Amino acid sequence: MDNNIEYFKLLESKTKKSSQYFETAKKSILGGIASALHKGDYEPYPIFIESGKGSKLYDVDGNEYIDYVGGFGPTILGYCPQAVNDAVIDQASRGAQFAAPTKSLNDLSDKIASIVPCAELVSYQSTGTEACIVAVRFARAYTGKNKIIKFEGNYHGWSEELYISTAASSLAQLGPRNNPWKIRQSAGQTERVTEDVIILPWNDLEVVEQAINRHGHEIAAVILEPVMCNCEPIMPKPGYLEGLRKITADNDVLLIFDEIITGFRLALGGAQEYYKVKPDISTFGKAAAGGFQIAGVVGRKEVMQTGVNPVGTFNGNPIAVAACQATIRELEKPLVYENMARITKRLIDGVNEIGKKKGVTLYSGGLASIWQIEFGIKGPMSEYRDNFKVDKVSYQKFRTAGLAKGIRFHPTRGRLYVSAAHSDKDVDKTLMVIDELIINLFKTT
Ligand SMILES: Cc1ncc(COP(=O)(O)O)c(C=O)c1O
Repeated sequence: MDNNIEYFKLLESKTKKSSQYFETAKKSILGGIASALHKGDYEPYPIFIESGKGSKLYDVDGNEYIDYVGGFGPTILGYCPQAVNDAVIDQASRGAQFAAPTKSLNDLSDKIASIVPCAELVSYQSTGTEACIVAVRFARAYTGKNKIIKFEGNYHGWSEELYISTAASSLAQLGPRNNPWKIRQSAGQTERVTEDVIILPWNDLEVVEQAINRHGHEIAAVILEPVMCNCEPIMPKPGYLEGLRKITADNDVLLIFDEIITGFRLALGGAQEYYKVKPDISTFGKAAAGGFQIAGVVGRKEVMQTGVNPVGTFNGNPIAVAACQATIRELEKPLVYENMARITKRLIDGVNEIGKKKGVTLYSGGLASIWQIEFGIKGPMSEYRDNFKVDKVSYQKFRTAGLAKGIRFHPTRGRLYVSAAHSDKDVDKTLMVIDELIINLFKTT
């Protein structure tokens, strides 16, 4: 019996409405989905969600899932957090969009400046993509230089210039390790947009040093994910972030931490607080507003006061501001981060133990409230190219079977989030299901 097919049939039998809705969706929505990752490459249709509460999601057929996708990062308090909902409803009753300053934006900005180490000023956008564009613009305006260093596998949104070398279909497509090719990720991107971007491997100080020695006079900034969360995650090697800080400071190159994922998630002050390395500029988004849409750039005053004036209809939108304030108030409560880290560690330890006990090659790791499950490797990856050692086919089987058994993992990669709403009971059930899936899907003896 192919257990994978059995799980797939079970999922299919439970999700008939999702299948029907997807057929309808394809008639009026490009690809049937609003964002490319709303459906995994291997699945015939995505699961349509009706509602969420706490750590759970409920689909249109009434199935319940313990969710570790976390809305791709924003739902750090779980689904429908009361405090955030109350703040949003209160603000909505007074107006949702003014195109004018508000006192609440002043208060929020003071707060962000007090908690994010590099934040002397705050600039607001609505999405991470916009924030990354603005961050690079600040760096160019301040340094008067054009080039930026970006790392392969790091994702900074889908803008023309930054949507380069975020993912490759094969190792060969990446080119030489120390001088990788520039991969345009989407049809419609012109070759010209790659001109001022230097692509390097992440987690290797030496190659950055060499590039800055060669081109430092042209390089405005090094932009990176301080933890490479868009590749499962991969942790920075000890000394890597500190080393980047030093090399950039010594060469009049700015250091930009893209904290769209790590901001408010690794700690209230993000990766810069967690690792105690202060960049010149950093971005925030996702977890900042508990599921509502806000993003921004923070940094040193002199870097940001250089004539760059970001515009945007929804910048500082009062609903997003209210949600962000309420989210921060919740995250500031005692033991919130400690509890998420404890739950995450239970999951990581539990998964590794199951793998060992069942003799299946897998690795689970993570930090704070971010964790991962990878098949085919025994230990952590250290750079994007290691990702090609991961057994993605097994992950896809596991993911589909997980859905059939009421656990929702990321559609394409093993990067998972815990929220403040996840409980020990969720962990118990999750590990029980994983135990069953591992034995049924992968055990050969
Ligand atoms: C590190 C990082 N930067 C930027 C972005 C882009 O953010 P958004 O999807 O809000 O445009 C993402 C999104 O996943 C991200 O992970």
